[in-house]
Amino acid sequence: MGENHMQKEKLRGIVIDDLFKIYKRGKIEVVALRGLTCEFDRGNLSVIMGPSGCGKTTLLNLIGGLDIPSSGRIIFENENVSGKSEKELEIYRKTKVGYVFQFMNLIPELNAAENVGLPLLLTNVSKRERENRINELLNVVGLFNREKHMPDELSGGEQQRVAIAAALAHNPDILLCDEPTGELDTESKYHIMDVLRNVLKKYPQKIVLVVTHDSDLRKIADKLYFIKDGEISFELNREEIIEKYGDSVEFNAEETIASERFFKDYKELEYLIRDKLEKFAKEK
Ligand SMILES: Nc1ncnc2c1ncn2[C@@H]1O[C@H](COP(=O)(O)OP(=O)(O)OP(=O)(O)O)[C@@H](O)[C@H]1O
Ligand SMILES: [Mg+2]
Repeated sequence: MGENHMQKEKLRGIVIDDLFKIYKRGKIEVVALRGLTCEFDRGNLSVIMGPSGCGKTTLLNLIGGLDIPSSGRIIFENENVSGKSEKELEIYRKTKVGYVFQFMNLIPELNAAENVGLPLLLTNVSKRERENRINELLNVVGLFNREKHMPDELSGGEQQRVAIAAALAHNPDILLCDEPTGELDTESKYHIMDVLRNVLKKYPQKIVLVVTHDSDLRKIADKLYFIKDGEISFELNREEIIEKYGDSVEFNAEETIASERFFKDYKELEYLIRDKLEKFAKEK
């Protein structure tokens, strides 16, 4: 194999080939994935949609090495993830994969910075490196001024942004997000969408996969996939998404940070005004 070809192979994303997952509960069999075949490229934000029970979480769990398929292959960096031993899978999960769940991603007793840095305590990076990495990641998710906040002092959307930063701490190639905006209001959801785009802007070699019911998320997708009956029923690239849905929302990380500053200033102003009003009322 030539050098160039090797390079290309290495840069290739995830190739999924004829994947089946059959869950067995006593006599009952559920076919969650039925020969699913597709590719997820590096540098792409892939959004996978489909109705409840169509196999979205199952697919992420298999890609993330949290479960093994009944048959078929998941190829990443020339290796079959599905053929790895338990020990190899553990290493794969710890080095290659970051996972963001719908909720309960953070440790309530640790502040934002500590939550982000936690995965790094398991590795041998120095304290200095860890702190740099925490700062970098809190910036990527637009939360540079929340490092000391405890999870219950953060909004749901901010908690989820910390969770994204934490999932990226060990610099995984693959970021898997299962319904990351499921519990959020519209504004927080848009923030998360913005942050997910920003992750690829900052780290263009990563593979970001988002599974969701929420059709709003197609606005940030480079590739959109639909799962039906355990298979990809169709896929669209960016141009086709815009053509079909007319979505052309541009996301801009600078804007997130700017709006964040705006809200902070606004809040301070609000307190000042309230303070003044209270004094005013007392004087009367
Ligand atoms: N551990 C399990 N044991 C048995 N059946 C399971 C298991 N996990 C999932 N299933 C079944 O497999 C199918 C796919 O489940 P999966 O969780 O992947 O769906 P989903 O697309 O993520 O749904 P949702 O949008 O509701 O999260 C469902 O019919 C589900 O009941
Ligand atoms: Mg699910």
